[in-house]
Amino acid sequence: MLAATKNLSLSKSLSLLEDLKKELNQRKVDGLLRQRRLLDSPQAEHIVANDKPYLSFCSNDYLGLANHPALIKTMQQAACDSGVGSGASNLITGHHRYHDSLEKQLAKFVKLPAALLFSTGYMANIGVLGALVGRGDAIFADKLNHACLNDGGYYSLAEFNRFAHNDVAALEALLKASTAKHKLIAVDAVFSMDGDIAPIPEYLALCEQYDAYLYIDDAHGFGVLGAHGEGSLSHFNLASPRFIVMATLGKAAGVAGAFVAGEQVVIDYLIQTAKSYVYSTPAPPALSATLSAAVSLIEQGDGLRAHLQYLMATLKANLSLQHWQLMPSNTAIQPLVVGSNHAAVALSEYLQSMGILVPAIRPPTVPVNTARLRISLSAAHSEHDVITLAKAINKAEKGLTR
Ligand SMILES: Cc1ncc(COP(=O)(O)O)c(C=O)c1O
Repeated sequence: MLAATKNLSLSKSLSLLEDLKKELNQRKVDGLLRQRRLLDSPQAEHIVANDKPYLSFCSNDYLGLANHPALIKTMQQAACDSGVGSGASNLITGHHRYHDSLEKQLAKFVKLPAALLFSTGYMANIGVLGALVGRGDAIFADKLNHACLNDGGYYSLAEFNRFAHNDVAALEALLKASTAKHKLIAVDAVFSMDGDIAPIPEYLALCEQYDAYLYIDDAHGFGVLGAHGEGSLSHFNLASPRFIVMATLGKAAGVAGAFVAGEQVVIDYLIQTAKSYVYSTPAPPALSATLSAAVSLIEQGDGLRAHLQYLMATLKANLSLQHWQLMPSNTAIQPLVVGSNHAAVALSEYLQSMGILVPAIRPPTVPVNTARLRISLSAAHSEHDVITLAKAINKAEKGLTR
């Protein structure tokens, strides 16, 4: 028996492992190999990564809540009274009062009838698209949508149509031609690598004309846009039963997780059918208690959002560039397009050598030849931090494009 097993293992090809190795090497050659940094500090504007101090423009902690003392305290207290684990899925015994009250608070905050928590935004998008539409239905997705909206679309088995970025006419042509039973437009509200905002009012008009629904991924709008940080719907002052909104809670809210909000019937249906909700253990209740406090800070955070706006203006006013270009964004995501993968990596490495971290974003995350630095501003940054970054980029352009 032992000998047979030995022979069997000897005869096995290791082609998969060899292919993986080749692919990784190719990524390295193409300047596409991604690497993790080891963080030894809380997420903040000044961090310690790989044992060195840096000024960071990498995080989506747009309001600077990830290391907020009041939230840390809330999490400690909530862990004392609710433990550290949820123990079972929501439909067994995992649905804690902290989860429930956060859902109610979020629904009220975004002015939609009901909300449902998911462990991450990725899980929410996969679960919701997979549950709401299927064979015979159609999804219409912006080409620059986040990867998890695409994955949700493929997973749903609905016909998956992609249209050019923010192109209302192209979307209308697709809707007009569609014979699908149910039509769902799915878009990022704020595009994660571009920082621009989807034309949501125009999409809503199309929904009304073609009996479609609008699924909005507000990962980068929640907490930042709107009268008091409610997100993109508040930014445009829109309400409709055709909206289903997903927002993540690990970005401006500073903690982790995601929620989906919409009509009560949509949420009731998702509780029964969204597989990544039904068959998954929810995040610990203490996270929900912390998030409740974070949502209150968002609501009271007009000063933080005003400072963020000031930092955007400061960055734009202090960059003086000949070759590279900031994309036209009025959100906390300020991408600087550099072009080639190697140029983006060289710029990111140059800034790193000056003690500043800004990630280089390359294909397939962004289209070929539009590699960029994704500058993420946070209310935790000071004016001085942003001027330091702008000066370093100005200097880098002179040195690297000579
Ligand atoms: C637009 C968008 N949607 C969804 C997600 C996924 O959210 P999470 O990080 O909570 O999984 C991200 C995360 O980067 C995102 O940028």
